[in-house]
Amino acid sequence: MGSLPKIGITVNLNTGELLGGRVQHTVRTAKDLQGIFRDEAVRLAMDPAQLIYRVQSFLPAPEGQPGELFWGTTLIEPGVVGDEYFMTKGHFHADRSRTEYYLTFAGKGALILMDEDRKTRFEPMKPGSLHYIPPNTAHRVANVGESLLSFLACWPSDAGHDYATIAAEGFSARLRSIHGIPTLVEEP
Ligand code: 6PG
Ligand code: NI
Repeated sequence: MGSLPKIGITVNLNTGELLGGRVQHTVRTAKDLQGIFRDEAVRLAMDPAQLIYRVQSFLPAPEGQPGELFWGTTLIEPGVVGDEYFMTKGHFHADRSRTEYYLTFAGKGALILMDEDRKTRFEPMKPGSLHYIPPNTAHRVANVGESLLSFLACWPSDAGHDYATIAAEGFSARLRSIHGIPTLVEEP
């Protein structure tokens, strides 16, 4: 047996969770997601501490420095806010040319993608599905299943995150549970 790889990170192959001393943890609860869901009144009526998602990331270089690769696992709880599934905030990369891969470990999800012309589509996520996020494409993930959804992401260290555009303009369509079926509904 050799020794552990130098970076000291292991991946739980069932859940995608990153384990190791240099893993950074981010938690998003209902109170952190103002303006993300269509039904803001329903979100405000929720327990502010209700866990929506967590991100475990391994950033081996300062953010913004070119040439490195970052890893992060996102774990999204099952649940809805009104008829919208628990989901991530969503963002463009600050450097619009920067791409990303997602690999699903557990659960059932939807990767919602919107290009710069505001055309929105989604890809179903299931264990083993690999997804490519092209340049100039906003991305967000919804948990459409009844158990924890988890996926591992890999992206360039100089991609950055532009949350402001989505905060201001949103996605052009929302993934809603219509008669129990995840359906993309154009925003009015
Ligand atoms: C990234 C990835 C991914 C993402 C999380 C949480 O660029 O870092 O797309 O790690 O950040 O899934 O989603 P939000 O960043 O949109 O909250
Ligand atoms: Ni991203």
